[in-house]
Formats: sequence, C-alpha cells, structure tokens
Amino acid sequence: MLVKKAELAAVAVKQHQYPQDELPEVASAGRSNVGKSSLLNTLTNRKNLARVSGTPGKTRTINFFQINDAFRIVDLPGYGYAQVSQKEKERWGKLMEDYFAAQRIDLGVMIVDARHAPTNNDITMANWFLESGCPFVVVANKLDKVKKSELEGNLALIRKTLDFGDDVLILPFSAEKGTNRD
Ligand code: GTP
Ligand code: MG
Repeated sequence: MLVKKAELAAVAVKQHQYPQDELPEVASAGRSNVGKSSLLNTLTNRKNLARVSGTPGKTRTINFFQINDAFRIVDLPGYGYAQVSQKEKERWGKLMEDYFAAQRIDLGVMIVDARHAPTNNDITMANWFLESGCPFVVVANKLDKVKKSELEGNLALIRKTLDFGDDVLILPFSAEKGTNRD
C-alpha cells in the first residue's frame, strides 16, 4: 500500500472525542510493548507517526490515525503491564468498553508476540474481538526474534491458546525489519 498521507486525526478518552465521519476503521490491540505503535509506523512507512517506547504502557489514549483520507488505523492502549495500578486498569477497561460499544470496527487486528504463548489477557482481548463480530486477523510480531525452526510450533501454540480454528489468519510479522509488511 502506498501511504501518501498519514496523520493523527484524534486522540480520545471519551466517545465524543472520536472522529465523527464514517471512514472505515482498523482497530489494533495487544499487550503493552508487543509493538502496536511500531507496527503502525512500519505499515505507514513513517518513523514517528505513533510513539514507540521502551517503557511499557505508554499509549494510554485511543489514537486515531487517518491514512490517505480513506480509512483509519486505531491504536488501542496496551494491556497486561504488571506495574499498573488497579485504578489505571479500570480506566483502560472503560476506554476499551466504550470503543467496542460504539461498533465502529471494520477490521480487528490482534497483535501477539511471535515468541510466546498468548497470555490470559490476550485470550480476553481475542474474545472482545470475536464477540464484536468484526472480521479479524492476528499478527504475530517480533518474528525477527524467533528461530526459523521454532516458528511453526509457535504459530500453532498461538492458534491453540486463543482457541482459533483454521479460519482465523495468523500473520507472522516484524515491525523492526518490516518482514511481511506487504
Ligand atoms: P504500548 O504503547 O506501551 O502498549 O507498547 P506498543 O505495543 O505500542 O509497543 P511499541 O511499538 O512501543 O514497541 C515496544 C518495544 O518493542 C520497542 O522497544 C520496539 O522497538 C520493540 N519492537 C516492536 N516491534 C518489534 C519487532 O518486530 N522486533 C523487535 N525485535 N522489536 C520490536
Ligand atoms: Mg504504543
């Protein structure tokens, strides 16, 4: 995809702050530090569109990125970072609940770590997508850190842990190297 224009269209913590037009939305979610922001930068060929951080839990708002004025990628705040207070977790839950309740998702992208089995939080997140009824794919990021010989086993474990049949697409990806960007 040729990205001619990519811009932050809105930053929201409340529904009234969401963009009000009808552009299609691709919503991406995953654990803190899994590479959601990096994936967005890689897909759009921008170095700093979304903020990438070594400190997990940095993205705490819902960030709407508008691409070619044709659709939006929505960077949802990460979850599962241990050092987060109960209050912060509740805030996260409310943000996500509101966003899913608005039923704006045209495609869900769930990002997991290609190196590990999905966590319980990942399973919960996958169920949010499933229950929303939107089409959705899984991206197994940080492929560059997986040995070739281990990849197939890891992907099978991801599928099994998330309890997905063969109908759900799991795409190995590296935001770092751009592998499988196309
Ligand atoms: P939060 O916003 O905190 O939820 O994190 P995030 O999911 O947006 O992760 P982010 O893109 O900020 O990346 C977290 C760290 O992982 C950074 O240090 C990235 O450089 C690194 N990273 C992201 N993608 C990859 C990848 O494909 N391979 C490797 N090796 N590192 C990656
Ligand atoms: Mg982020």
